[in-house]
Amino acid sequence: MKVLVVGSGGREHAICTAVAKSPRVDKIYCAPGNAGIAAIAECVAIQAMEFEKLAAFAKENGIDLTIIGMDDPLVGGIVDVFEAEGLRVFGPRKNAAILEGSKAFSKDLMKKYNIPTAAYENFDDPQKALAYLETAKMPIVLKADGLALGKGVLICNTLEEAKAGVKEIMEDKKFGPAGNTMVIEEFMTGREVSVLSFVDGKSIQIMSSAQDHKRAKDGDQGLNTGGMGTFSPSPFYTKEVDEFCKKYIYQATVDAMAKEGREFKGIIFFGLMLTEEGPKVLEYNARFGDPEAQVVLCRMKNDIIDVMEACVDGTLDTLKLEFEDQAAVCVVLASDGYPLAYDKGLEITGFENFEGKDDYYCFHAGTKFDDAGRIVTNGGRVLGITAKGSDLKEARVKAYEATEWIWFANKYMRHDIGKAIDEA
Ligand code: AMP
Ligand code: GLY
Repeated sequence: MKVLVVGSGGREHAICTAVAKSPRVDKIYCAPGNAGIAAIAECVAIQAMEFEKLAAFAKENGIDLTIIGMDDPLVGGIVDVFEAEGLRVFGPRKNAAILEGSKAFSKDLMKKYNIPTAAYENFDDPQKALAYLETAKMPIVLKADGLALGKGVLICNTLEEAKAGVKEIMEDKKFGPAGNTMVIEEFMTGREVSVLSFVDGKSIQIMSSAQDHKRAKDGDQGLNTGGMGTFSPSPFYTKEVDEFCKKYIYQATVDAMAKEGREFKGIIFFGLMLTEEGPKVLEYNARFGDPEAQVVLCRMKNDIIDVMEACVDGTLDTLKLEFEDQAAVCVVLASDGYPLAYDKGLEITGFENFEGKDDYYCFHAGTKFDDAGRIVTNGGRVLGITAKGSDLKEARVKAYEATEWIWFANKYMRHDIGKAIDEA
């Protein structure tokens, strides 16, 4: 069969790598893709938000299944456009992708269905938000309602900071229309765990847990980024945590969406915080995490096409997801300066070092071919160097070893990805 993957990051490279393993697949296209994806898929020069063009491409080329990797097209309704054309597509419709697209919606859903999350209030009037803050306990968390590249969350330690935050989000519109509405929520403490799942509208199957490192610098300092590295599984995701989440969070979310007439098919990514009162939902995403996908999909034993088709067809309960016992660590090689300003177009060398090495992956994120045919940097997050090992410590040593195999002039990485493993 022929498969089209929509997106261009490390996550989509990991998805394409999993699809390429399926004996059922003869041909992979990726729109728009990147220089690494081009080694296993034919890259198509259509952007992820060009829904009509993508659907026309899928029709003309007899695509059997389209997989949407990114949040923006999902929230924008790409799945509805494909379905209206009679095309098979993996991902939630617009009315279900709102689970990620609106934090105010997701908080109201959790409240209505008693799914554990931080206490909160939603605001669409900055004056009311400011008045609420006067009597609120600090620290406090402000969240722009809509999509903001993972950057629309402000943790404020003082009333002054919080007031400035309301101004930034709701009045100065730092995150654009995403800040028309804002969630103000209680500050929680605890370890964070990411749990990705496949959902078929009715039933849900959980993948192996992971942990992201969102801050730019070592020791969780610096600005929030899309994610600087991950490890999987998380040793903090214990059997007790799993049982609690199965009882109160996972199926409850799928059932809540169905009850609201927003049947969810695709990936639900649960951002959890393990608090003293038990696990609570920090946020939902409607797609694989990036770089969570890199450490989870490389360990999945199932044929990803079987699983995704079962989601589309509503037969997920007939499958059992299986993961290797191995652990995986992904270290992001970024452009120095990310997430603010950085240079692009710099040549990357050393890819040949990965050839023939089974447990090592060099997932491309911001890369492209220049006019001379060289692979150059083309974004803030450039590569996701990933390795598998018999345990997390071995995987981490191998991943860091492999970061030395690659060179570009403004290469930057965190040196403490997976350090938390030592405390487990
Ligand atoms: P979100 O995009 O909602 O996951 O938020 C981004 C990051 O902000 C999370 O990964 C947490 O580190 C932090 N965060 C979000 N909500 C809270 C909260 N209620 N309490 C403490 N930290 C939070
Ligand atoms: N790595 C976090 C995310 O994909 O949202």
